[in-house]
Amino acid sequence: MMNKMTLSDTQIQIFENIFSFRNWRRKIGSENKLVGFVPTMGCLHEGHLSLIKQANQYCQIIVISIFVNPAQFAPSEDLDKYPRTLSDDLDKLSSLKCVDAVFLPKVEEIYPAGIPLEIEEQQGTFVEVKGKSHQMEGKTRPGFFRGVATVCTKLFNIVQPDNVFFGQKDAQQCVIIRNMIRDLHFPIEMHVGDIVREKDGLAMSSRNKYLTPEMRKVAITLHQSLIETKKAFENNNIKDRKNLLDPAFELIERVTKENEAQKLGFSIKLDYLSLADPDTLEEIDKIKEKGAILSGALYVGSTRLIDNILFNCKL
Ligand code: PAF
Repeated sequence: MMNKMTLSDTQIQIFENIFSFRNWRRKIGSENKLVGFVPTMGCLHEGHLSLIKQANQYCQIIVISIFVNPAQFAPSEDLDKYPRTLSDDLDKLSSLKCVDAVFLPKVEEIYPAGIPLEIEEQQGTFVEVKGKSHQMEGKTRPGFFRGVATVCTKLFNIVQPDNVFFGQKDAQQCVIIRNMIRDLHFPIEMHVGDIVREKDGLAMSSRNKYLTPEMRKVAITLHQSLIETKKAFENNNIKDRKNLLDPAFELIERVTKENEAQKLGFSIKLDYLSLADPDTLEEIDKIKEKGAILSGALYVGSTRLIDNILFNCKL
């Protein structure tokens, strides 16, 4: 089924199944235009919109997918409560006036063999980028990148983009998708967009919606701790792991204690801070010529926030 949504002076084609999308895509193929693709899980914010604007600078046709991908959620995670805001999302996309098509596939079509959240129960075909998926985010979320790589493979096969756009906020995801594009010989160029932040520095994320006003105040702690490390690196030329990360750990510990003392009814818990090689994603003891990815994850209540800063490297 294909709908046309006419909104003032923009027209976005909305596709809810693979067959109708492919019919449209075939026609675009014969027009010799570059197709740019931004995959999303919806609940769009300025971070997504900036990727779309970036795509619009490179490509003549812009495709967005909105699909909350069950394969990247563990059974204990927030698949059911993940914010779904389709009508708002479509308004935001239409206001950009550059989006040609939105692909909104159904779970049953993307996963014809079904998709139970327990990995042991899953059937069918999955894609895994070995060597890059077990560390950093992958330690706490073991099946996460398998789910991401699998859905991106499926979406790339359906959308057939020339260029894809991912946000630096998910730094490990960027490294994994870049490797996957190389390994599976997708004829796709990948672009990474800068992290878009709120005024106080909090990285934009769909999950920020879960934060109460009190949580929102302390959510900035992760970014502030990364900034401490950045200062140590840039101002004091510190390059070894301990001296770089200590001020960040200290800041998080202090805020965690202050938060406990205030008895606000939620806790802050650091999941990890990582200083990793930008290619292998393995932890490093010292920043060398290649640079490093400094990243971390912090629980504020049950909401898990991630953020990163790149030192002398690109994703
Ligand atoms: O970054 C995201 O929003 C998701 O991981 C992605 C790339 C859309 C795959 O579901």
